[in-house]
Amino acid sequence: MSAQILDGKGTAEQIRYEIKDEVARFIEETGVQPTLAVVLVGDDPASQVYVRNKENACAKVGVRSLMYRLPKETTSDELCELIEKLDGDESVHGILVQLPLPKGIDEKRILDLIDPRKDVDAFHPENVGLLSQGRPRFLPCTPYGIQRLLARYNIETKGKRVVVIGRSDIVGKPMGLLFLQKGLGGDATVTICHSQTENLPEIVREADIVVAAIGKAEFVTADMIKPGAVVVDVGMNRVQREIVDENGEKKTISKLVGDVDFDAVKEVASWITPVPGGVGPLTVTMLLLNTLNGARRQVAATR
Ligand code: GUN
Repeated sequence: MSAQILDGKGTAEQIRYEIKDEVARFIEETGVQPTLAVVLVGDDPASQVYVRNKENACAKVGVRSLMYRLPKETTSDELCELIEKLDGDESVHGILVQLPLPKGIDEKRILDLIDPRKDVDAFHPENVGLLSQGRPRFLPCTPYGIQRLLARYNIETKGKRVVVIGRSDIVGKPMGLLFLQKGLGGDATVTICHSQTENLPEIVREADIVVAAIGKAEFVTADMIKPGAVVVDVGMNRVQREIVDENGEKKTISKLVGDVDFDAVKEVASWITPVPGGVGPLTVTMLLLNTLNGARRQVAATR
């Protein structure tokens, strides 16, 4: 039997409607418009698309966005100066520095400089520490989105075996922490696999829920999945594929695929996210929510 689809795009749209209402109410009550500053350095084409998506998403829910597009020659000192200015600007509630930064810029120095109260990515050591202690300030956007998606489909995590593939600071590690938390969307038994894991397929086969976040096209194959498991695919890999067109001619096309071999795995899993239209739209949605929550906390602290 074929797996049912976890519709990230539809779920994201629904949550964005709710956020739009909440933003309007917040502005009416406080006179403050939640504001996100987005900093893009250099001309990486994928980052340009992501940043434009964020700008559009903000506009649609009534969050103000301030875009800073800087040349790739920008120095660490210049970038630090901008972050310090945004940290001190009371009208800014969230600061996002798009990654990756160009070579030569000290990424850690920049990210650590962001005021943790405005750190909507939840990258700052203070926010990572709070999350690991089970008292988060901001939840990291992609793991938070995945948690909300599973909740929307009433997928139980309590007592389940979750295997996260990938140990990145952005997805793998915080995803593991979220599943470990006490309460709704948590209470799972968590294993994080990575490039040095021995017997990885064997470990993944034990999982009730698999989250693939390794950045390797179609790495997770059907033989790694326990029948009936839930599979969440965080991957976004551009690959070249040869196809035969309607005239019978061979063509090479560029295609976006996940970390999961979708066509094969969907025949084994019970639920699966597609790529695109799965996790991606939720990440931006949680960024909007984090910005609103940042604004709420700032107003509460100053009035
Ligand atoms: N680049 C790719 N994903 C992300 C993300 O979640 N946050 C930031 N700041 N940069 C990214």
